[in-house]
Amino acid sequence: MNTFYISTPIYYVNGAPHIGHAYTTIVADAFARYYRQAGYDVFFQTGTDEHGLKIQRAAESLGISPRELADINSAKFLELFKKLDIRYDRFIRTTEEAHKAVVTEVVRRMIEHGDVYLAKYAGWYSASDEAYYDELEVENGRAKASGSVVEWVEEESYFFRLSRYAEPLLRWYKEDPQSVQPDARRNEVIAFVEGGLKDLSISRTTFSWGIPMPQDPKHVLYVWVDALTNYITGAGAFQDEERYARYWPCDIHLIGKDILRFHAVYWPAFLLSAGLTVPKQVFAHGWWMNEGYKMSKSLNNFIDAFALAEEYELDVLRYYLLREVPLGNDGNFARERLIERNNGELADNIGNLVNRTLRMAQGYIQNQAPAPAETNEEIDRNLRNAAAEAVQKIDEFVSKRQLHFALEQLLSWSSALNLYVHTTEPWKLQKAEDPTRLHQVLYHALEGIRILGILAAAFLPNTSDKILDALSQTAPEQRLFSALAWGGLQEGTPLNKPEILFTKFETKMTQDNTNQATTEPKAAEAKPAEAKKEKKDKKEKVEEPTGPIDFSDFTKVELRVAKILSAERVEGAEKLLKLSVDLGEELPRTVVAGIAKSFAPEELVGLHVATVANLKPAKLFGIPSQAMLLAADRPDGKVELTRYSTDITPGTRIR
Ligand code: MSP
Repeated sequence: MNTFYISTPIYYVNGAPHIGHAYTTIVADAFARYYRQAGYDVFFQTGTDEHGLKIQRAAESLGISPRELADINSAKFLELFKKLDIRYDRFIRTTEEAHKAVVTEVVRRMIEHGDVYLAKYAGWYSASDEAYYDELEVENGRAKASGSVVEWVEEESYFFRLSRYAEPLLRWYKEDPQSVQPDARRNEVIAFVEGGLKDLSISRTTFSWGIPMPQDPKHVLYVWVDALTNYITGAGAFQDEERYARYWPCDIHLIGKDILRFHAVYWPAFLLSAGLTVPKQVFAHGWWMNEGYKMSKSLNNFIDAFALAEEYELDVLRYYLLREVPLGNDGNFARERLIERNNGELADNIGNLVNRTLRMAQGYIQNQAPAPAETNEEIDRNLRNAAAEAVQKIDEFVSKRQLHFALEQLLSWSSALNLYVHTTEPWKLQKAEDPTRLHQVLYHALEGIRILGILAAAFLPNTSDKILDALSQTAPEQRLFSALAWGGLQEGTPLNKPEILFTKFETKMTQDNTNQATTEPKAAEAKPAEAKKEKKDKKEKVEEPTGPIDFSDFTKVELRVAKILSAERVEGAEKLLKLSVDLGEELPRTVVAGIAKSFAPEELVGLHVATVANLKPAKLFGIPSQAMLLAADRPDGKVELTRYSTDITPGTRIR
């Protein structure tokens, strides 16, 4: 049996999972599900990276042990993957004894091979990236590539003779174009290695949270030696030879672009030194931004993975993440785009097709599948050919790692079925009392939906279940690709009313945004003076209350205390500041406020201020604003904010 081994990076346990972690794992899960359906013996591994300085420091700052921190956060990843219905085969933790034994053996082999020597390291280190940087890679105390703070390190260290491996590595990249993907990443790696490889420090003596260096336990191994080895531990290296022979080398190490060098340079060099085979492919995906902004600690705008799983149906989230961005490219998480795709592609296309066809089956053929019909009608033949083509194209796209095209193809198949129903008009055949043609047509539509259900499983697992359940295709073998051949739906199969597949989101937000767009300063500036004035008058005319209001009117306005987490200018809009505020919710909100003439961004950070928290979201300068600050005009033309002392908890209601 063919095997397929896919891995995700193992995730650091210094914090809670965010969209980046969810993304890599969802992509890997889609591949794993796909190859399982295709009949492969799949091994899908994910897990947590628990040693190293970064984790030790994070634990110290919380006053707990690194082990406790690892237990707490590793459990969060497990919980998230359960929530996301990730079907991994193994969740590995680097603190497992079995893993420590494998790492020790790898390093023992490197030593035996003459690739390890003792010397002194003097250079830059970023604990946040767990990476060494040379002088040229550092600027103003930070690593240029990641922006992380670096510190100067000088200590005794074991070195790995990475320099010895430049030639074999270059040969690997050049002889096997699949080795590192996408191509642009492979070229990047080639250029890096051709630039010369320096030996790599692989041990430290100034902290203790890690696996000891064999024969010299005052050194702990560099966390990347430990972490990368997870991939062979999971495959059974040195412990289960049969299993190891089955799964290693790994088919895809799926990673983010920031950890390419570790996977495409260090890891294969370690393997070669230990006398082991290199992986078949390292595939680097891009990074997600949040509504156009790079996610960062300083902006405090990481999209929390649990909040995402809470907010969206699993299939909608998967579909959006897999469809929106070609694997390998950077992406922008934009809620409006997600809503558009949900409403237009999932609900209107797939949802509508399944719903209308099964309703007709209920009304016209008493919920029983008609007999398979290999008719000679051109429209039928075309549909049957299109089914075979969809199956083949999806397979091609998945093997080229182009999941976005695979999904596009799935959608095209659904569109083809909708068009078929639209053109054959079964409702007219029913009226015309033409049962023969009606049965043929409904068979084609239902059989097409069965194929759609099987093809959707890797990408939209819940939708696939609902579709196949509705068609009574419940046996496991009915869900494999071996069941894709046309004609699988048996005569008399009971059909059930399907569950609602997708609910449309209201697009209110989009409408608000369009209204708001006209008040954007940029738009106003572009208008002639007259229009500008008119607009200004309009804007300043705040409706005066006509009399006392009821208390219930007042309570409609949700006033809350917000803590300002970060503030920055909005390029091109001199009056605006973009703030990230904590309202006591899981995720911070973005607020765009016209207060740039009154405050410098840095004055605002840390202030507790009054906000209207339930105002409809609006877009200012293309940035969605999710709350409004309360401010009073001062006589000098500036504004003053309504402030609270910092011991008032963010989110507290103001009454
Ligand atoms: N522990 C290391 C990996 C060791 S693998 C032997 C690590 N962990 S991590 O938790 O920091 O990151 C895990 C993955 O998340 C990386 O692949 C990284 O690229 C990815 N992402 C982090 N931020 C991301 C986005 N904003 N968008 C997409 N993926 C991102 O690195």
